[in-house]
Amino acid sequence: MASITKPTFRMTVRPTLPPAWNPVPWRTFSKLLFVHYDARTFENEILDYLGVRYAFFCSSGRSSLWLALKALSSLRQEKNEVIIPAYTCPALASAILKCGLKPVLCDVSMDDFGLDIGSLRSKVTGKTLAVVAVHLLGRPSDMAPIKEIADKECAFVIEDAAQGFGNVFPKSSQKLGTVGHVGFFSFGRGKPLGLMHGGLLVTNSKSISEAISAFYCELPDSDRIDRLSHVFNLAAFKLFSSPYLYWIPKGMPFLHLGQTRFEPEVRPQKAIYGVTGIIGDLLKYLDEEKIIRQRQSQWYSSNINGGHAVVKPECPSFPFLRYPLLMEPGSNRDKLLQALSTRGLGAARMYPCALNKLPGLKEILDDDADYPNADKLGACLLTLPLHRNVGDRHRAGIKSILNQAAKGN
Ligand SMILES: Cc1ncc(COP(=O)(O)O)c(C=O)c1O
Repeated sequence: MASITKPTFRMTVRPTLPPAWNPVPWRTFSKLLFVHYDARTFENEILDYLGVRYAFFCSSGRSSLWLALKALSSLRQEKNEVIIPAYTCPALASAILKCGLKPVLCDVSMDDFGLDIGSLRSKVTGKTLAVVAVHLLGRPSDMAPIKEIADKECAFVIEDAAQGFGNVFPKSSQKLGTVGHVGFFSFGRGKPLGLMHGGLLVTNSKSISEAISAFYCELPDSDRIDRLSHVFNLAAFKLFSSPYLYWIPKGMPFLHLGQTRFEPEVRPQKAIYGVTGIIGDLLKYLDEEKIIRQRQSQWYSSNINGGHAVVKPECPSFPFLRYPLLMEPGSNRDKLLQALSTRGLGAARMYPCALNKLPGLKEILDDDADYPNADKLGACLLTLPLHRNVGDRHRAGIKSILNQAAKGN
């Protein structure tokens, strides 16, 4: 069994890059605090941007998934299983369990880190309510075979585009999250539009949107305390994610930055008032951020040696959320991470292992099957930062550490 190493917390006073970051201008705060506006205007802008017909703004990605599953399960009450990748955010399992449904794991593909099509075929049955295709790091999963397999058993396809808001499928130019029966996004910390709060559920189907509306209108609205605490969190995020201050939250163990934990609690709520306005307002910057992430990706692809220690993704200039590097097994990814981290270079791993081995969730899933690709990603995946605060000096540091390791192995 793969051993799970925990990140170590040490407070080192030095400029430190966060793994992912996006600008949030101060004037955005006035939208949250003072301006009363018609949220519909912004909703329509967001619908246009994504190219979808119906949108529901929730408090988080997991509450959006909860809402989707409540609606879909009201349409197919006899089905109770939801297929998710074995290597993904454990919050998916929390939302599924909260709906009283059963998460079923499926191994992942080493090509796009999404569902492995061979494994998916063996998992979809008449009991499958939905298949959740995750676009990990904003990298598009191949949706055609997933839809075909799900269709055969009348299962719904849910796209988890939490990490890929604004990214597009390479062939069709459609936005991620818009080709399944439903799609959802997160605006939590570390996402392409990280606002410390918010989720969005979208669909093009009238009947599904009606089913969603029935549950959405029952969701509690946020209150003034929720709004104030969001403003406070967002301001703290803005301040402390600066490279000069990020070492402070990074060194605080109770914030659990960089740690993957199973949190069973899901509190489905509508998004707090004002968040729609900020998303609408920041859309114009998102495309700029995507171009920056693309350029940084291209730089890593051209400058980090292929060597035997580093396997590069094959799409060199994609606007990943973070740039993925697959290290060879045995190349001591964690030692490299430590070297990069000590210099404050914003490298991070993703999830440590397959979900059925994650403490807290493993006892609930009670699934002792092997998911070899999920375990391999847990042990070998390393990500590099792509945001606009990554400068020449940081890239040179990353290059020198990784290329030396490639030579040394
Ligand atoms: C792929 C993926 N799906 C879903 C979620 C859940 O989003 P939230 O944290 O907003 O509930 C996350 C969050 O980290 C995620 O990375």
